[in-house]
Amino acid sequence: MSVFLGGPALLWTALLLLLYPDGMSADTREPTVSLNPPWTPILKEDNVTLTCKENNSLELNSTVWYHNKTKLGVTTLTLDIVKAQTKNSGEYRCRNKGSILSKPVSLKVFSEWLLIQASTEMVLEGESFLIRCHSWRNLNVKRVTYYRNGKFLRFWYDNYNITINNATETDSGTYYCTGWISKQNHTSNFLNIVVRKDSPPEHQSKYHWLQFVIPSLVVLLFAVDTGLFISTQQQLTLLLKIKTTRRSRNLMDPRPKPDAKKN
Ligand SMILES: *[C@@H]1O[C@H](CO)[C@@H](O)[C@H](O)[C@H]1NC(C)=O
Ligand SMILES: *[C@@H]1O[C@H](CO)[C@@H](O)[C@H](O)[C@H]1NC(C)=O
Ligand SMILES: *[C@@H]1O[C@H](CO)[C@@H](O)[C@H](O)[C@H]1NC(C)=O
Ligand SMILES: *[C@@H]1O[C@H](CO)[C@@H](O)[C@H](O)[C@H]1NC(C)=O
Ligand SMILES: *[C@@H]1O[C@H](CO)[C@@H](O)[C@H](O)[C@H]1NC(C)=O
Ligand SMILES: *[C@@H]1O[C@H](CO)[C@@H](O)[C@H](O)[C@H]1NC(C)=O
Ligand SMILES: *[C@@H]1O[C@H](CO)[C@@H](O)[C@H](O)[C@H]1NC(C)=O
Repeated sequence: MSVFLGGPALLWTALLLLLYPDGMSADTREPTVSLNPPWTPILKEDNVTLTCKENNSLELNSTVWYHNKTKLGVTTLTLDIVKAQTKNSGEYRCRNKGSILSKPVSLKVFSEWLLIQASTEMVLEGESFLIRCHSWRNLNVKRVTYYRNGKFLRFWYDNYNITINNATETDSGTYYCTGWISKQNHTSNFLNIVVRKDSPPEHQSKYHWLQFVIPSLVVLLFAVDTGLFISTQQQLTLLLKIKTTRRSRNLMDPRPKPDAKKN
């Protein structure tokens, strides 16, 4: 019996290993890339630390970082960008040991005097966020004016951030700021802020289908395996039967029967 089980069982294991290359565990843990400080976009020469966040594991030196699909040499949970340059722009993704690849986080590095920044570009209704008018190398900025959708929003002689608590859809819009850096009036970039009622559907994992596909495949494999086993057993029984019939027939009738040739 064990000999006949061997073939299909091996096949089964091999196919399972193909499905779960990370040692038989159906892992769909997805880390996220977060920025600290959270500002996006950033200016040239700013510093930012990217963290591959995953709550349960603190696997050291086993993180893989990708920048624009190029694998980086860094293996720590954090990736430091010191004195950012334009080439540091692009998409960042990470993966921890046994986890799937994170969603991309886009980092934009601008070469400007003034930059309007938000703590997040995607806000949910009721959440709070910060907006700041950031200068290159944190140079002193005076007489700072904030605008939303082209309309005056706030003015300060010194440079302060705007805190928006309990965001509503009316806080959505295009923001920018103007300010004076050593006797020069500068205008920042434009930044779109979207305040949403619900989290967008893309927040759901792209890999949700795997939760259904993998068990189905296991069931299918089991069925195939059982099928193979049964058919092997049937064929064998058939073969044995034929042999016995043939032998008994041969004993009675020296002429071979045509139907015995079918197998
Ligand atoms: C970024 O870090 C470097 C080195 O620590 C520092 O010289 C530089 O001033 C920092 N940049 C900003 C904008 O603070
Ligand atoms: C991650 O953290 C959340 C809440 O902080 C918790 O509900 C969840 O079980 C954790 N996941 C794992 C895999 O530990
Ligand atoms: C991670 O790698 C760094 C540099 O290669 C090394 O100094 C450190 O000891 C490593 N940490 C662990 C926990 O392996
Ligand atoms: C990554 O892609 C961004 C946007 O396409 C580009 O600005 C940047 O220069 C790229 N950086 C590298 C190192 O490929
Ligand atoms: C504005 O943001 C900067 C950078 O995070 C922070 O250092 C500063 O304390 C903030 N100011 C206010 C008034 O929130
Ligand atoms: C946020 O705004 C909504 C609608 O205006 C209001 O019902 C709710 O009480 C506010 N929440 C807080 C914490 O201010
Ligand atoms: C600074 O420049 C902006 C855009 O050019 C302009 O709208 C604003 O009025 C100027 N501020 C002052 C104080 O001149």
